[in-house]
Parts: sequence; structure tokens; C-alpha cells
Amino acid sequence: MSLPQLEDLPDPSGKRVLVRCDFNVPLSTAADGTRVIEDDLRIRAAVPTLRWLLDRGAEVTACTHLGRPKGAPDAKSDVGPVRARLAELVPGVRLLDNLRWDSGEEANAPAFVDRLVADQDLYVDDAFGAAHRAHASIVGPPTRLPSAAGRLLAREVEVLGALLHDPKRPFVAVLGGSKVSDKLGVIRSLLDKVDTLILGGGMCFTFLAASGHHIGESLAEPDMVATCQELLESDTEILLPTDLVVLGPDDDVRQVGEDVPPGYRGLDIGPGSAAAFADAIADARTVLWNGPMGVFEDPRFEAGTIAVAYAVAECRGFTIVGGGDSAAAAAKFGFSDRIDHVSTGGGASLELIEQGDLPGLAALRASAAAFGLGMR
Ligand code: 3PG
Ligand code: MG
Repeated sequence: MSLPQLEDLPDPSGKRVLVRCDFNVPLSTAADGTRVIEDDLRIRAAVPTLRWLLDRGAEVTACTHLGRPKGAPDAKSDVGPVRARLAELVPGVRLLDNLRWDSGEEANAPAFVDRLVADQDLYVDDAFGAAHRAHASIVGPPTRLPSAAGRLLAREVEVLGALLHDPKRPFVAVLGGSKVSDKLGVIRSLLDKVDTLILGGGMCFTFLAASGHHIGESLAEPDMVATCQELLESDTEILLPTDLVVLGPDDDVRQVGEDVPPGYRGLDIGPGSAAAFADAIADARTVLWNGPMGVFEDPRFEAGTIAVAYAVAECRGFTIVGGGDSAAAAAKFGFSDRIDHVSTGGGASLELIEQGDLPGLAALRASAAAFGLGMR
């Protein structure tokens, strides 16, 4: 897909440039109350674009959302920690307050767009992780200013776009995460594209229920069972776990087969499933992984996710990991640098695969047409 890129903009020297970033990073709170960035990938990933603009003499203002504040300031969504990290990585960039502190952002209110573009000459979108949101800062400025994709956004679209058109086969997708309903569209779309679809994580229980298994107290969406039955009839190979790690009363952790005993909750795939999934991944020439296999934050339920992360790292095909949780898992277990492309967008990458386009990308193409910019 062609997009206007940095080189397509008018000369940025001496211009004021608004850069939409996705600095929605995971934060935790230290014992003394300080908010700590758990993974700064999304900030580091924007540096090439910001440097490119600064090197050419632009005056750069960055903006981002952080968390999901409901249109009003609150301490836990203050961008302070992000501002501090950004200043270390690339000094000289101003960062606006959290965009979602204003209700105009999510509502795509014209008055909020007016405020964002006031005094700006150019707009750059480098917020791949938020490109699926038709929010003011994403779709508004391209209607007002000559606009382009930053380096990160352009690279994400190039890599993920290749999956849609000509993936090397076998193409194996591994999906986890908690809800089938969140991923239904992408599951359908992937079934048309991949050779094997591997399902783990919380959502596998609705599929296990659909294949007639007992799921105990596991997370499930009863109103999705019929849909899962229909998906399981697909001609594409679908691998579900054949064993599970479950948690029961009095913190009892055990391994079971495909059936979860009453009173127990499935929280990870078992070793047999992990081995089968790893075998399928090993043979792939393209792998897309989105969503952990279990509750990997708890060491009792991390083994399935580690096995998948290891298999993806070892795979000789082209490997892509998308989604904050799987990217965080790959980083936590030390596999990130052995993955070909760690996407900064979870929801965005899945929606791009499902729809073939995103509101943020469409806005940039329309802007190029309106302002007569080239695309590449
Ligand atoms: C993300 O982390 O998924 C993106 O930053 C988008 O955030 P949102 O899901 O809150 O819109
Ligand atoms: Mg999200």
C-alpha cells in the first residue's frame, strides 16, 4: 500500500511539525509511588522519525494518548514518565499532554482538531498502534495540513501488508488473548490466508467448549460457542490445546487433558500442546503471533507462552509478533532480538490484516491527494 512519506513532504526546515506517536506504554507503580515504564519499545521506535525531522531543522511537537482516561486529566494517565524518557532518547521534542484528557480526541471533534493544528505547518503520523482509531489526532490533521507517514508507520504497513498479499508458505498464525469476540473478524480473515491457525490463551476455552469439552470455571463466552463450532468446520487446519494447566480450590495447580475438572480454571496450555504448537511453528516460513498462551505474568502459567516464544525465535521463516502482551512476553523471556518484526500495534496489526486498511492510513492517502503530495 502506498503512503505519503517523510520525503514527500514540503521541506520541513524551519517548519512546525506535529507528530502523532503511540506512546501508550505499559506502566507500573514503584513502592514509592513513582510511575515506571515497563517497556519503552514504542518510544524508541519513534526516534528515527523525530530525529529525521530535527536534523532537517523542524520544530517538532509530539502527541500521544496514554491509557484510557475518559476525557479528563488524572494522575495515572499523566504523560510525565513518557516525557522524561523521550527527553533522554531525543532531546528537543515537545510532548503535549495526554490527548485523551480532552473528550474531543475520541469523539473526533472538529474544535479539538482546530486546537491541535493551530500554529502547525505539517503533520506526521507515526502512531501505528493507534492507526485503527478514527480519533481526532489521527484522522483530523491530515484534512488540514500536508501530511505523511513516519518511518515506523511506513515500516509496519510494509511488513504487515506483505502478509496479506504474498506470504511464504507454510504460513502459521498463533492467536491468544482472552476473548473470541474481540478477534472474531481476524480469525475469519486468517482462516482464508494461513495454512495453520493455532489457538491458545483464554479464548481457546470457548473453542474447546464448542468441540464438546468440559471447561470448568475457565474464561468463556457462551454466546460464541455456535460461532466457534462453525469456525472449527473450516478447511484450514486449526490446532487447539490437547492438554492444559489449571488452577483449582486452595491454589491447587495441575495438568489435565482437554477437559477441565469442575471448580478449576484453565490458565495455560500444557506441555503436550506446547510441543505440538512448537512443531507447527518450526516448519513455517511465515509466522504471525498475537496473544500469549496463558497468564505468563504468573510463573506457574508461563511455560506455554515461553515455549511458543522460543519456537518463534528459533523458526527460520519470517516471524512477526504483534500485540503489547506477546511483545512484552517476548521481551520478558529474552527473545525479542530473534524475532524479525516486533510490531508496535496489536489491535492495529490485526485490524489491518482483517480489513486491509486502517482509518489512519486512509486519512494520509486522502491528504496526499488533497495537498498534491507524492506517495511511495
Ligand atoms: C494500544 O495500546 O492498543 C493502542 O495504543 C491503542 O490504544 P486503545 O486500545 O486504548 O485505543
Ligand atoms: Mg488496545
